[in-house]
Amino acid sequence: MSVTLIIGSQWGDEGKGKIVDFLSLQSDYIIRFHGGNNAGHTVVNKYGKFPMHLVPSGIFSKRATGIISNGVILDLEVLISEIEMLKKSGIKLKNRLLISPRCHLIMPYHKLLDQVYEEAKGKNKTGTTGRGIGPTYADKVSYNGIRIWDLLDTKRFSEKLEIQLKIKNGILKSLGKKPLSAKTIEKTFFEMRGKIMPYIAEPFLLLQKALKEKKKILLEGAHAVFLDPDWGTYPYVTASTIVAGGINSQAGIPPKFLSDVVGVVKAYTTRVGEGPFPTELTGATGEILRKAGNEFGTTTGRPRRCGWFDAELIRFAALLNGFTSIAITKLDVLDSFSEIKVCVGYKYKGEKATYSQGDDQFLMKVVPVYKTLKGWQATTNGLTDYKKLPLNAKKYIEEIEKLTGVSVKYISTGPHRHDIIVK
Ligand code: IMP
Repeated sequence: MSVTLIIGSQWGDEGKGKIVDFLSLQSDYIIRFHGGNNAGHTVVNKYGKFPMHLVPSGIFSKRATGIISNGVILDLEVLISEIEMLKKSGIKLKNRLLISPRCHLIMPYHKLLDQVYEEAKGKNKTGTTGRGIGPTYADKVSYNGIRIWDLLDTKRFSEKLEIQLKIKNGILKSLGKKPLSAKTIEKTFFEMRGKIMPYIAEPFLLLQKALKEKKKILLEGAHAVFLDPDWGTYPYVTASTIVAGGINSQAGIPPKFLSDVVGVVKAYTTRVGEGPFPTELTGATGEILRKAGNEFGTTTGRPRRCGWFDAELIRFAALLNGFTSIAITKLDVLDSFSEIKVCVGYKYKGEKATYSQGDDQFLMKVVPVYKTLKGWQATTNGLTDYKKLPLNAKKYIEEIEKLTGVSVKYISTGPHRHDIIVK
């Protein structure tokens, strides 16, 4: 096993940070390769509790080098404050954190545009994190982006900024917002430039060498399969490619090197923002899950929508991405339930239905078919040995394996690095 991809397999917040932090202890390189600070990966280890938004969650491993590759978009203020937070906690970053100069920058107008698009959509809004993600990627693919490479050359940065402000201020003014000043943006960006300079380095050749030498590379996926713009519940998705194939364009890793694809799933399902969610529980049971799982967003603090485990989703995600194993997180959140339901498939107008056959409107109408399992009503918190799991918890895991066709390799039983069963 030399190149492992960790991929969130529901609608985000599956606990990928914890799995990455654990696996990073045996990795040489950890790559965050897409998305921006809309992602929030929580890591709890001997150094403390860290809400990570941009720096790879594996940076705490002494062995590993952290890489932010070209597919990531950067809000420099957030990046700098994360770097400062890590340095203050004693994490050494010099020569251990590399940032690709190909990364696009989230500019102040992207955040404003994110807001105005959402306002314009009204009740059909996406429910974005408001971090400017969609508008930044839109500029990237329409050749209007500004990259770190541009920031390294102040003249080029100012020229590009002037053109973009001409366009963006026009849009902002027409929607009743104040235009932005080039001078203010230049001043902040030129100041921030010095702080990130020590970490800027194109990682391509370094990674090619690592592949040749069979070094262990861990790709830290952000968000989740059902937020992918092609395969997720469009338009209730995020902007970057999340599925396994994205490692080529967004990290420069040829797909043929991928040896393991670990789908991370919560033992139940959650979602923030709008969009279909077939197994959502809007009543008291959903409330119990939210409380027990502390289901509030790492990035925005929004309460997460909660529901039962949806095997139809995971079966689809496994086929699409070629999962080689599954990591289940937050099993302990189900400890108190006397009965636990699992969605085994969907029905639409009384007929069997699948995730892939319809769009967001269709998925809002499908009816989940449930199987009810007995709960274990015993604590699993902190367990590290599969044999010690209560019998009904083992049955729950086995049911998930049967329904998804993928074996469960990791079971997370608490927030700390070592609260984990390797099966
Ligand atoms: P955006 O990525 O801020 O544009 O938001 C688009 C949608 O993706 C919204 O529903 C967000 O709540 C959701 N989203 C984006 N990133 C994450 C994540 O890391 N976890 C959970 N939801 C996310």
